[in-house]
Amino acid sequence: MPATLSDDDLFDLRWNRGRRDLVGPLGRLYPQAEDLMARLCDLLARHWRDRPADLARLDLARDVDPDWFLSEDMVAYVFYIDRFAGDLKRLPDRIPYLSDLGITYAHMMPCLKPRPGPSDGGYAVMDYREIDPRLGDMADFERATGALRAAGISPVIDMVLNHTAKEHEWARKARAGDPFYQAFYRMFDDDTLPRQFEETLVEIFPDQAPGSFTYYDDLGKWVWTTFNEYQWDLNWENPEVFLAVLDTILFLANKGVEGFRLDAVAFMGKQMGTTCQNLPQVHDILQAITQATRVAAPAVIHKAEAIVGPQDLVPYLGTGRHEGRVSQLAYHNNLMVQFWSSLASEDTRLMTHVLKTHFPESFRRAAFAPYIRCHDDIGWAITPEDTAHVPGVDAAPHRDYLSDFYNGSFPGSFARGADFQVNEETGDRRTNGTFASLAGLEAALTPDEVEAAIARIRLGHALIASFGGIPLIYMGDEIGMLNDYGYANVAEHVDDGRWMQRPAMDWDRATADGPPARIRADLDRIIRLRKATPQFAGDVPTRVLETGHGGLFVYRRLGEPCEITCLANFTAHDQWLGPRAAGLDGGAMIDLLSGRPLALHDGQIVLPPYQILWLRPDP
Ligand code: GLC
Repeated sequence: MPATLSDDDLFDLRWNRGRRDLVGPLGRLYPQAEDLMARLCDLLARHWRDRPADLARLDLARDVDPDWFLSEDMVAYVFYIDRFAGDLKRLPDRIPYLSDLGITYAHMMPCLKPRPGPSDGGYAVMDYREIDPRLGDMADFERATGALRAAGISPVIDMVLNHTAKEHEWARKARAGDPFYQAFYRMFDDDTLPRQFEETLVEIFPDQAPGSFTYYDDLGKWVWTTFNEYQWDLNWENPEVFLAVLDTILFLANKGVEGFRLDAVAFMGKQMGTTCQNLPQVHDILQAITQATRVAAPAVIHKAEAIVGPQDLVPYLGTGRHEGRVSQLAYHNNLMVQFWSSLASEDTRLMTHVLKTHFPESFRRAAFAPYIRCHDDIGWAITPEDTAHVPGVDAAPHRDYLSDFYNGSFPGSFARGADFQVNEETGDRRTNGTFASLAGLEAALTPDEVEAAIARIRLGHALIASFGGIPLIYMGDEIGMLNDYGYANVAEHVDDGRWMQRPAMDWDRATADGPPARIRADLDRIIRLRKATPQFAGDVPTRVLETGHGGLFVYRRLGEPCEITCLANFTAHDQWLGPRAAGLDGGAMIDLLSGRPLALHDGQIVLPPYQILWLRPDP
């Protein structure tokens, strides 16, 4: 006879499963906290009782199939609700467009109620339980998430947990003098400690918001403000912050959110004498959040947004005691940086070195979210330790070169972009621009230049579709949308050049012939083939191959029933490679992308400019 389980039984089973993985990190984070486990259990049980029936069913399905998000079927689209659909009420009308593209994961950019005025693109949240009124209300949101779910698309939103807006209720109470809420933030009576911290902190917005602390006269205190003045850093050493943020996450999960993009997680831990980024306690916090979510809403996954150097990135997918226990996804900003670096320099040696040395071939129950562009700037995370392995390349001059290349000032550059947050002191610069503009479509004048730009975009999309994990397609990139210079006329945006890569969706372009249609057709084929290739699933190991060829990037997906070898030409010239150098035995191969058998020339594989091949043995 089949066993019948009550909802309470299910909760007990999940709590008992999760306990072990919660006790460790919570004990390390909050050794003094009394009754924390009991309070946590109550909180989780309360949200489980509130869980709508259809979501509880999804929980069960994903308990049984916890690797669901690793499937080759997964493809993500990242968009601003207003710029894509107008508002939440009209979002369901756009679902057919997403389905047509093959999307299964929809990251809706910040949609919770932001502070009035500048809000860092919505990353300064004033109320996590209310929807941005410009987009609709909570009922609209639930209807939209329900419609997405019905179409097989997982709704994903941002959870900003490093800071709140200074107008958030907690911050307002803190500002009014309530000591309970003052302990939610990092406040200092004088500037002694802030000054000491600042000796090792890195400025995030040196241009628009210099320094990491702000003094408030009325409060008589300094407040830690890593990003903008109006974003107050939460104090994650306080267990009340953990419980309050978790409470919010589970509240939103019960409104139909299946994934949270955990914003700026690298900054959650603070310790004197460090950069206060990527500290070990961050991984304890992420494990506690992930494992607690698994108890009360197991259908839900988390994606860590840690835009950090290669050495620091891997732990966000779980290493050591955190293996298989932290966020299920993390942005692969290093793949993104190396894509752009190789494309500019027509040299893949650094890319091969970085991706081969720093990253394991697979993770336990976790994977990267590879991407080429997003709403943020590109930070050139290239270290001297890595360039030391590449003769003729030095980190600082190379970063400078990339900035010049992508702002378009370097002679012969195909790119059109702009510098962002130039740090006069360190010389550091970051880069803005859309995929298509940075890849040459904006500057292209001749048919050959247009072809080259389209080929670079195809290369990028095919790379993220095959490298492992969930590829993130950024709104408009599927039709090659160009930089939006109009942001400079919008008072709220003019001080933040990142709005250059956040244009409103151009629906006319989506049906236009020419390059937009070509780019879209390329992407459609890439996505269709990805979904038909189980070797591209997120849990299949990705091995980067050292072929000794400095213009090609070569990697292999090790899955069944055969391996897929991907070769990408990052140069504007034909490149030749002997099959043996790519670990191939010279037997018949077929290129999945073109559907054609691989023809060797003088025994060599030949790749035209920017071509990428997905090769499998031809049976
Ligand atoms: C993340 C967001 C970025 C924002 C920052 C602070 O990095 O992607 O847009 O400025 O967090 O919230």
